[in-house]
Amino acid sequence: MTANKETETKIFNPTTNEQEFLIRKCILDDIDEVIEVNERELPEDYPFFFYKSILDNFPECFLVAQNKLGKIVAYIMWRVEKAPSINSLKYINKAHLVSIAVSESYRRRGIATILLSNSMKAIKKYKIDEYVLEVRVSNYTAIRLYEKLDYKIENIKKNYYRDGENAYFMTLAV
Ligand code: ACO
Ligand code: ZN
Repeated sequence: MTANKETETKIFNPTTNEQEFLIRKCILDDIDEVIEVNERELPEDYPFFFYKSILDNFPECFLVAQNKLGKIVAYIMWRVEKAPSINSLKYINKAHLVSIAVSESYRRRGIATILLSNSMKAIKKYKIDEYVLEVRVSNYTAIRLYEKLDYKIENIKKNYYRDGENAYFMTLAV
C-alpha cells in the first residue's frame, strides 16, 4: 500500500488559514458520494460495480476531496492497461485516466491539479510508461487543465462519445 503522505494533501484557505479540503484515498463508503458528483458533473456515468472494481484494483490512485463537513466534492480514478505503443509494436503499460470531476461550486481552487498530481505519482508503482486520457473536444476547461500539466494532443478519436462528439486523445510520457 502506498504511504498516505503521497496521496494526502490538506488545502487551506489563504485568508483564514483554516483547512478547507482534504485530498485522500477513496474508500468503499465514499463510492455513493463519488457517484453523486459524477452524475451531477459529467454525462458519462457508470454502475456501482465499475467504481468498486476500479477501487479494488487500483486503490492508490482513486482519490477524493472532502470539504470541512466531510462531504465528497471531487474524485479522480485511473486504471492501468497493457496496450500497443503509438510508435512501435511494443506493448507498454498505460495509466488511463478514467474520470475526474470537481463539484461546480468548488472549482478553480486547485483541487483538480492536486488530484492529478498526487494520483499520477501514486500510479507509478505499476511501472507505467505513459499517461493517457480522452476529453471532449468542446471541454476547453479540462483541456487547459491537462495542457497545464504538459499533456499533448496525440490524435482525435472520431465519434468517441455516445452523443457523437469527438475526443482528443491526450498523452504524457512518464
Ligand atoms: N477556464 C479556463 N481554464 C480553466 C478553468 C476555466 N473555467 N478551470 C480550470 N482551468 C484550467 C486552468 O489552466 C487552471 O489553472 P489556473 O487556475 O492556474 O489558471 C487549471 O485548469 C487547473 O484548475 P483547477 O482549479 O485545478 O481545476 P478545478 O478543480 O476547477 O477542476 C475540472 C477542473 C476537473 C476540469 C472541473 O472543471 C470539472 O469537474 N469539470 C466537469 C467535469 C469534467 O469535465 N471532467 C473532465 C472530463 S475528461 C476525463 O475525465 C478523462
Ligand atoms: Zn478513456
